[in-house]
Amino acid sequence: MYHNPVLLQESIKGLNIREGGTYVDATFGGGGHSGAILEKLGNGRLLVFDTDSDAKRNLPDDKRIIFINQNFRYLKNFLRLYDALPIDGLLADLGVSSFQFDKPEKGFSTRFDGPLDMRMSHNLLLSAADVVNTYDENGLSEIIWQYGEIKNHKCIARKIVEARNKKPIKTTFQLIEAVSICIPPAKRNKLLAMLFQALRIEVNGELEALKELLVQAKEALRPGGRLVVISYHSLEDRLVKNFIKTGNFRGMLQKDFFGNPIREMEPMHNKAIVPDKEETERNPRARSAKLRIAKKCEP
Ligand SMILES: C[S@@+](CC[C@H](N)C(=O)[O-])C[C@H]1O[C@@H](n2cnc3c(N)ncnc32)[C@H](O)[C@@H]1O
Repeated sequence: MYHNPVLLQESIKGLNIREGGTYVDATFGGGGHSGAILEKLGNGRLLVFDTDSDAKRNLPDDKRIIFINQNFRYLKNFLRLYDALPIDGLLADLGVSSFQFDKPEKGFSTRFDGPLDMRMSHNLLLSAADVVNTYDENGLSEIIWQYGEIKNHKCIARKIVEARNKKPIKTTFQLIEAVSICIPPAKRNKLLAMLFQALRIEVNGELEALKELLVQAKEALRPGGRLVVISYHSLEDRLVKNFIKTGNFRGMLQKDFFGNPIREMEPMHNKAIVPDKEETERNPRARSAKLRIAKKCEP
């Protein structure tokens, strides 16, 4: 089920694991990355987050691991609760797992007919069907543009409103049918994936959660500690890149009184690390992955 953790060797190397240290896997999923962390951890501690309670089934029987069924946006609260501050490293492998993606009843995939749900956590109130059936046309158009970066977002929003005025849109295939007139057949798969991505980001508040994670991770790391993030689309990667390079999301490096750059994180590489051909052939999900690694600077 989870045989293919993305960029496994590169991300574990980036964590620079110290035996006996305290590490966080913010996106446990199937536990592929966590398993590799445990192999190097000695008698250290590994705190793992996943907002999806199903992930708990993948926990190994290992006393060094603590599973926290929460959104990673609450990172610091839970690290405090478990007396785990400061940490030596944090890894986040963002987005949905292949297990979630391949479950038709979660509604993440354009390939299966299923309820338009897309909630990673059972605690979330708003489903993708709620978004599609209740947002006004401008609101829909805006999220499709902002989170899906689809040029003809206006057409898609209009067709959604027209279709739902006849009958609520409840399933993934109903949504696809409603918008198909706006989607050129040659770009069908790509544009539908982008539309589903936009709805998923809105439903799960993904970009806000990522921003909160990055800010708190920086605070939680000890000087010299590592931040390792794998992202799967440009909206996420832009946030990670700007934050690592400048400490903020706009990408504007702050300077002190004397004009020296104020750096709290130091990128370990100038460019993102991407999977090689062998990995993308073996695991198509890795195709869009970008890995960024940073070290927390000494104060
Ligand atoms: C790509 S998968 C991780 C796969 C994992 N690295 C592995 O090797 O199996 C992402 C996981 O993170 C979880 N997730 C996504 N956003 C989250 C958030 N804001 N807080 C906590 N968990 C989140 C998802 O539920 C999913 O299980």
